[in-house]
Amino acid sequence: MGLVDKLNALKRDDAISMHVPGHKNMTIGNLDKLEWSYDKTEITGLDDLHSPDGVLLELNDLLSEKQPGYNAQAVVNGTTTGVLSAVHALKGEVDKFLIVGDAHKSVYHALDLAGVTFEKVAVNDLFGMSVDNTAVLITYPSYSGHAPALDEAIERVKVAGDRIVVDEAHGAHFGITGRFPRSALSHGADIVIQSYHKMLPALTGASVVFTKEEAIHKRVMKYIDHFETSSPSYLILASIELAHQFYNDFEDEVFFKKRSELIKNLEHRGFSVTRADDPAKIVLNIEGVSPYLLFDALNRKGVYSEMVTEEGVLWCLPLFHEGDSYPLESLSGRLDELNLVEDVGNEGQEDLNFLLGRPAVRAVVPYPPGVPLIHEGERFTEEVIKSIIHKKSYHVKIEGIEENIAYYKVDDA
Ligand SMILES: Cc1ncc(COP(=O)(O)O)c(C=O)c1O
Repeated sequence: MGLVDKLNALKRDDAISMHVPGHKNMTIGNLDKLEWSYDKTEITGLDDLHSPDGVLLELNDLLSEKQPGYNAQAVVNGTTTGVLSAVHALKGEVDKFLIVGDAHKSVYHALDLAGVTFEKVAVNDLFGMSVDNTAVLITYPSYSGHAPALDEAIERVKVAGDRIVVDEAHGAHFGITGRFPRSALSHGADIVIQSYHKMLPALTGASVVFTKEEAIHKRVMKYIDHFETSSPSYLILASIELAHQFYNDFEDEVFFKKRSELIKNLEHRGFSVTRADDPAKIVLNIEGVSPYLLFDALNRKGVYSEMVTEEGVLWCLPLFHEGDSYPLESLSGRLDELNLVEDVGNEGQEDLNFLLGRPAVRAVVPYPPGVPLIHEGERFTEEVIKSIIHKKSYHVKIEGIEENIAYYKVDDA
């Protein structure tokens, strides 16, 4: 089956989205205002994304109203472009980089390409160490919606006069109303990068880079120009504008009402539901059932989740609103028909012990969430191998593992 056939099949089966992008198969938000004919290039009147002085500057100005005091730049290659550009913009200014939290692979790729050293630290370590001439890279919130208070950590780094970059890929909707966590923008981080496409209703690839100081903004813009396509999608850019209007106009009554009905519904059916700091993320489990089995059972009913880990099945909830067309009733029907017996995973465990103690020739990255289990050059430990074997037995996508297996199998032969 080709890609178009596959996408058509998902449409025919009325696939239900509990994953990104935030428009949930175009049932949330107002992307129906877009037309295919808006797919243009930078013709006269449509400005230049990397040196905007017309309609795209207006878009950036509109986006920067999200938090007074910031410059905003819309990007079409996702937060990955923003992260690469932020690290390159800062590499000449600081002596070292600190990583706080479970950083996405894009952070490691950026540091690798920039040829700079880094150290991983816990947020509390920031209070007991020297952060002179340092850029601190914080992932906030986590993939699954953990969003601890950031103000003290940011304050600590700012008092020391150092740079703070927040990868807020999963928090473009933060601050949408007072019942959602605050964005790092409200804490004055130097650079904040948000994937509009993840939790807001925007097209995949839509992100925004916010910078506080003009000089940093200029350096970040230089690298965005290096890393981003020179043929930006106007559909994605227009979707950012619409998502931004959605953010401004959003009222949360419908969201919280439907969310609590959904959670009640799930609990009534025997699910345990773990709430996150971000009210738009929940993790599902059923006692005695492997989360991987639950994930597969949901897929077989056409309910597609964001991610599965040992902790459970992660759902990114729709930002329900007045007039949305999200198929909640159909979801309830499908939950009633779940078949948890048929286990398509766990078909026997592969022996990977030959990797023990060997340095990884490629980073090994379960995807999602895209957080490396082991970096290139680090040695495979028993714990890492156990985790890989477990995930592989449930068909979790793991980038880089086959390259390591092939390399060391040949080596052993
Ligand atoms: C924490 C985090 N940062 C950055 C990214 C990259 O974002 P994008 O897909 O917008 O490039 C992701 C993607 O999943 C992510 O989870």
